[in-house]
Formats: sequence, structure tokens, C-alpha cells
Amino acid sequence: MMGHKADKSFFNEKRHWSKRKDQILECYLPPYLFKIATQGHPILIVDAFAGPGKFGDGEAGSPLIICRNIQEASSKGLTVPVTLLCIDDDKELYSELCNSIHRFSFAKAKHGKFGDYIPWIQEKAKNHSIFLYVDPFTVEGLDWDQMDSIFQHLSISHMSIEILMNFNARSFVRRGLAALKLTVPEPNSEIEDEEEIDVPLITPPSIERLNTVVGGYWWQEILESSMSFPEKVQAVTNGVCRMLSKRFREVCQHAIKALPHHTVPKYCLIFGSRHPDALILMNNEMVKSRQVLAELAKPKEPTLFETRPVELVPDIEELPPIILRHTSQLIARRNVILNIIREYFCQFSAKQIRGCIEQMLKTGKLKSETGKTRINDKTKIFTAK
Ligand SMILES: C[S@@+](CC[C@H](N)C(=O)[O-])C[C@H]1O[C@@H](n2cnc3c(N)ncnc32)[C@H](O)[C@@H]1O
Repeated sequence: MMGHKADKSFFNEKRHWSKRKDQILECYLPPYLFKIATQGHPILIVDAFAGPGKFGDGEAGSPLIICRNIQEASSKGLTVPVTLLCIDDDKELYSELCNSIHRFSFAKAKHGKFGDYIPWIQEKAKNHSIFLYVDPFTVEGLDWDQMDSIFQHLSISHMSIEILMNFNARSFVRRGLAALKLTVPEPNSEIEDEEEIDVPLITPPSIERLNTVVGGYWWQEILESSMSFPEKVQAVTNGVCRMLSKRFREVCQHAIKALPHHTVPKYCLIFGSRHPDALILMNNEMVKSRQVLAELAKPKEPTLFETRPVELVPDIEELPPIILRHTSQLIARRNVILNIIREYFCQFSAKQIRGCIEQMLKTGKLKSETGKTRINDKTKIFTAK
């Protein structure tokens, strides 16, 4: 029987993968707040599955992380007001949440389901920049159409909406297999963390319920295919990204694994924004998170060559030919960086790409429209013939 943690013991102590997830939220928020403030609209952050705000070991949960960042940004002269709405449907956790955040006047705690607050958020989307943080235990409580009714505003207005979602694809796939009456694989410690944050599947969820979670029946074909379990988990994650791509120009994903060699992540962070700068920022944070995992995989004894897989430690030598492929026509440096990040998400940071471009300008492999080697993001560059 797999252990499960979809109960309050989850909040006893924060695990290292939760820390990596929180780090991404924590580092993304300050640049986000200042960047989005330039649009001049008030900001609403929604922590849709907030939890108690604080872990038993004293570590901050997402509500406190967000509060501290808002406070810090305001003290540094953020020019627009920010409101935080934290929602939790567990009475006890809600009351802990109230205690955790009561000293922050811009933060409100609400008891109930995320779904209950959708009409309110929709109303706010008309004149607020919105950042939605969606971090459920499993896939319970997720409802694609509900979220999409917020995203719809993107097609009719210029307001900004961003989403950072924790999607537990392995839980979804196990539930889906059970619902389709297919074999559900036992957790296998070689490929995944055995401690499943999930309730035991005594009664499998209905197929309809799972359609509601991901906005359609597209997942069924994946689960019925001959793919392996890790491949199915990846394919369903890609499917959710495709759904988000209908609304957001920039969509990316980052697998949060418990151990570097796992092929099935604990869950996946999926991010959607319409703004390219947001993708570049998120890429930087997710590169850092990958580097933390790569550190965990470092051999104890130093080795002559890199022994870790390229998914963990991408080969920087690959970058020059990639840059050449992206500069066959005159193009601004910023767009080269953006296009490479879109194609090779989480492999290279903007700083690495910029550094490599500078090197290639110096060695004459690239030319800039100004003829100089020190250029800015707007300067156009091209492959030297
Ligand atoms: C993974 S925990 C959130 C952890 C939190 N983001 C953090 O970093 O500290 C998920 C929370 O969602 C709450 N929850 C479950 N279903 C919900 C729903 N439909 N709406 C809002 N909250 C829900 C649970 O009570 C639980 O506290």
C-alpha cells in the first residue's frame, strides 16, 4: 500500500521538493510585481489552494511567501496597490491561515472552494493584473472550465493574467487508469518517489470528473495507448500545456522530482503568460531549480567528465550552433534569447545565452548591426558569412 500525504501531516515539515517549488514562486514574484506595475493597474494575487500559511517546522507556506514579497515590494516603492486572496476549504487550515496572514492588511483569507470565488475573480480581471497560484494536493478541486472562464478575459482585454499551477500528472494518470479500468502501476521506487501525495483509490473517480479537470477527453487516448507509465505522465502534462496554449502565448513546464534519477516527477509546475518577459524570468528560475537537482546528483568523488544526464546538466557546447541557427537573418538579440528559451526551455539561462552571443561577436562568428561587440538587447545581430 502506498503511503499518502494528502492530509494535514503534509504541513508538518517542508520537503526539499516543496522548497524548490516555493523558491520558484519566491524568486519570480519580485520582478513580476515591478514589471506588471508598469502597466498601471492594481494587482490581484490569488493563492487558490492556500493551506495554513506556515509549516509545523516554521517554514513559510505560499501565503506567507507571497505576503512577504508584497510587503517588500511595497516598501521599495511599488507604484500600484496589491491585494492577495488566499482560499482554503478546510476549516481548521483556514483558521490557521487567518492567523498566519492577519498582520498583512492587503491579504484576505477566505474559507471555501476555489471554484466559489471564480465569479469574483472574473469581475476583478476587468481592471486588475492577475497572478493565479494553483497548488492543490492532487488534481481534486481542479476544474478546467472554471479556470478558463478567467482566462477568457485575455481574448477580450489587454489586462494581464498569469498562472502558475502545480499539476500532479502522475496522480491524474493513476486516477485515469483506474477510471478506464486499466491496470494501475504500483509505485516503483526506481522511477518515482513512493510516497504518493494522494488518497488511496478505493473508489476510482469517474471519467467525467477527470474530463472536467483537464477540459476534455483528450487524455483517454494517451492512457489507452501502449506508452509506458512515465511517457503517459509526460504526455498528459504536455496535453495540459496545449490547453493553456490556447489562451497564453507563453507556456512552459518544469518537472519537480524527488530524486534526480526519477523518470516520474512528483508533480509538474506549469506556467502560462501572454508576456515574453515572463517566460524569460520563469526560465531563469526554473534553470536554478534544475541546478539544485543537478547538485543532488553530483558524484561523491570528482570525475574527469560530466557523468550526469544532459536533462540535468545541459551541454553548454551545444549553445553556439543553436545561436547560429537562430541568427540566419538579422534579428534583435532579445528575440534570439526568447526564441532559444522557447525551443530549449529550462536548458540555458538568458545570461548564458547573452554571454555566448558576446563571445561569438568577439570571435567573429556573429556580427552586429552596429559593428560593435558590446551591444544591448535591441541591437540586431546575424551570422557572419
Ligand atoms: C498542497 S496544499 C497547499 C500548500 C500551499 N500552497 C503551501 O505552499 O503552503 C493544498 C490545500 O488546498 C486545500 N484545498 C483542497 N481543495 C480545495 C478547493 N477546492 N479549494 C480551495 N482549497 C482547497 C487543502 O485544504 C490544502 O490546504
